[in-house]
Amino acid sequence: METNYFSEKTLNKAVKLLQNGELVAFPTETVYGLGADATNAEAVKKVYQAKGRPSDNPLIVHITGQDDLTQYVASISVEAKKLMDSFWPGPLTLIFKIIPDSLPSVVTGGLETAAFRMPDNEVTLSLIKEAGVPLVGPSANTSGKPSPTTAKHVMHDLSGKIAGILDGGATSVGLESTVLDMSGDIPMILRPGQLTEVDLEQVIEKVTVDRHLMSESEVPKSPGMKYKHYSPNVDVWMIDYLEANFKEALLLAEKEQLKVGILASEKIVSDLADQVTASYILTSNGTVSEAAQHLFAGLRELDEWEEPLDLVLVETFPETGLGTAYMNRLKKASGGKFFKA
Ligand code: TXA
Ligand code: MG
Repeated sequence: METNYFSEKTLNKAVKLLQNGELVAFPTETVYGLGADATNAEAVKKVYQAKGRPSDNPLIVHITGQDDLTQYVASISVEAKKLMDSFWPGPLTLIFKIIPDSLPSVVTGGLETAAFRMPDNEVTLSLIKEAGVPLVGPSANTSGKPSPTTAKHVMHDLSGKIAGILDGGATSVGLESTVLDMSGDIPMILRPGQLTEVDLEQVIEKVTVDRHLMSESEVPKSPGMKYKHYSPNVDVWMIDYLEANFKEALLLAEKEQLKVGILASEKIVSDLADQVTASYILTSNGTVSEAAQHLFAGLRELDEWEEPLDLVLVETFPETGLGTAYMNRLKKASGGKFFKA
């Protein structure tokens, strides 16, 4: 199959393909999603095949607003309404108990709940509106690889396996949405994202966090969180943000004659670039929001370096605010390997 790029001008072609049960990737503010008609079980099955995704991992249904929910969700709490009023469109996925059989079981993984989100991207909202159906949208990467933040990343992973990619440029957040389970007594964060517990508690009284996110020994409530994720082929080590720690790690790598890449702030990269085989700037202003935006792109770039690397050293950030989501993804990419001088 030939995989074509589409733009706002050729949106109608992408719409037709989706209506015919084909797969088209789309941009959002977080990462690119792999779109298929959520009401068409055959189309949704193709999503699992193209990604190589385990079939017990349910998908997020992308919609154009709160009105789209009424077909699937019987009762929407006051709290959920407040959250949607405040954060939609935006990087917040909400899980609701659904009306039985209102969505194919391939979408929900056979659960009584489903995940919904209104992405903050005008062209993608038009795509969904014109298709006339909600779209499932897992991140548009091969299962287990870092999520795609550009159309080119999608092409790299899924070329020949999907009908097209709607190119909306690089995504702005760079990490997937916060997943919040609204189906229990107290809303619970199952996956950290740009919107944090503190942000959500500005709007509703109480939010809890899945204990799995604190302790690895707990079984995660979100099926997708149990899989190995975001992991490049090359070995990844987390490095405490002090430059001295990068230097120590480099000394060790030199002894072992390893080819090293670094993924770090501009200052560290410019000081150490001549001592390593490859480097990629995570942030020039030192903020975690810029680092989050570039983390997946950097991991991909260093993983594909023309002279294959043995080791990639990645800068850590404090685990507060967006740093919690950044570190959640980086811990998975590194398998928890942390170098301390
Ligand atoms: O930012 C995002 O959320 C991106 C963009 C494309 O919208 N999408 C995304 O989808 O990250 P995906 O499929 O890669 O991640 C969806 C997560 C998985 O961890 C999945 O297990 C969880 O949401 N999930 C989906 N439905 C669920 C449900 N009913 N109960 C618990 N977890 C659910
Ligand atoms: Mg994903």
